[in-house]
Amino acid sequence: MLIGSIDLVGFRNYRTLSYTPSPRLNLLIGPNAQGKTNLLEAVGFLLTGRSFRTTHLAEIACWGADSAIVAGDLQRAEGTRTVRRTIRRADDGTWHASGEGSAAARAIVFGWQDLAVVNGVPAARRNFIDGVAGRLYPTHIAALTRYRQIVARRNTLLRTRPLPTDLAARLAPWDEQVATIGMELIARRRRAAAMLQTELARIYPALSGERQKVEIRYRTELGEATEPAALQSALERVRSVEVRRGQTLAGPHRDDLVIELDGVDARVYGSRGQQRLLALALRLAEVLPVTEAAGTAPVLLLDDALSELDPRVRENVLRDIAAAEQVFLTSPEPLAIAGAAAWRVHAGEVAAA
Ligand SMILES: Nc1ncnc2c1ncn2[C@@H]1O[C@H](COP(=O)(O)OP(=O)(O)O)[C@@H](O)[C@H]1O
Ligand SMILES: [Mg+2]
Repeated sequence: MLIGSIDLVGFRNYRTLSYTPSPRLNLLIGPNAQGKTNLLEAVGFLLTGRSFRTTHLAEIACWGADSAIVAGDLQRAEGTRTVRRTIRRADDGTWHASGEGSAAARAIVFGWQDLAVVNGVPAARRNFIDGVAGRLYPTHIAALTRYRQIVARRNTLLRTRPLPTDLAARLAPWDEQVATIGMELIARRRRAAAMLQTELARIYPALSGERQKVEIRYRTELGEATEPAALQSALERVRSVEVRRGQTLAGPHRDDLVIELDGVDARVYGSRGQQRLLALALRLAEVLPVTEAAGTAPVLLLDDALSELDPRVRENVLRDIAAAEQVFLTSPEPLAIAGAAAWRVHAGEVAAA
């Protein structure tokens, strides 16, 4: 799927914009604070109905405005679909988005904050794998939200003082749900990690130009178990500690990904350069599995992805993304790339460069 055109009204620093990008590689060039990332955000919003930068719709509308519009054409082999999304403040001050998109539309976003996936806390890797799983399996995010609600309620129960005498009986229904939905989440995360692994093994050496073995694995204290019963007994095992701490201590919210280069943990032992390249390669590794799952190619939104890579690696990255469908790549400096459409972004306007 690709974007034939996008029209904005009152979106961040774009008062109005009508922009017709290239179906392949688009370079968005301009100094800082001109609207490059805002435009990536708008393209992502057109495709998915959500911002990759914020969950607060109020931040998206142009300052002082009480609505914003993101409209455009989504094109795929089967035909073109016009999408119109409105972000609006209701009378009670809450913000809402409306508008129907396409179930097959996917955006894959890369920014340097993704470095945290490689060298940050486990939560960064869990968010990453949930994002991937959500693009592969559309029910994943709703299940994750449900799981978090259940864990929160279970934690409330564990914190009740004095402890209910029938605590075990009252925990039982929550345990069952944690176990069932938790194992579903783990299964999808494992499948997502396995798909990434296949692609990463190909892409990372192609980008680095070095024959290194790279591996990504899902890590859970449940080992290889696939049955909800395994999670349920894990909960029983940690019950007394849970009661002391008032926290659910087994389940996918405690899991992590292991990312290794030549058998050693990239988080601890990887050089800064290796970690950067891994972060980018992890995103690019999504492209093929997501294309297969959605039945159409995702749009790539790469924010300043070439900065801080050496020239040889840049060439390798460009070669890899040439195989993708539509790509938007921002850069503070002009880039000379054969076949790419170059656009100058300046103060909320976009013009052919
Ligand atoms: N809701 C908003 N309304 C108007 N301007 C905004 C809004 N949100 C951010 N901006 C402005 O957008 C500019 C940043 O745009 P951004 O796309 O992040 O820049 P860059 O080109 O560096 O990627 C800043 O000048 C910021 O003040
Ligand atoms: Mg930016």
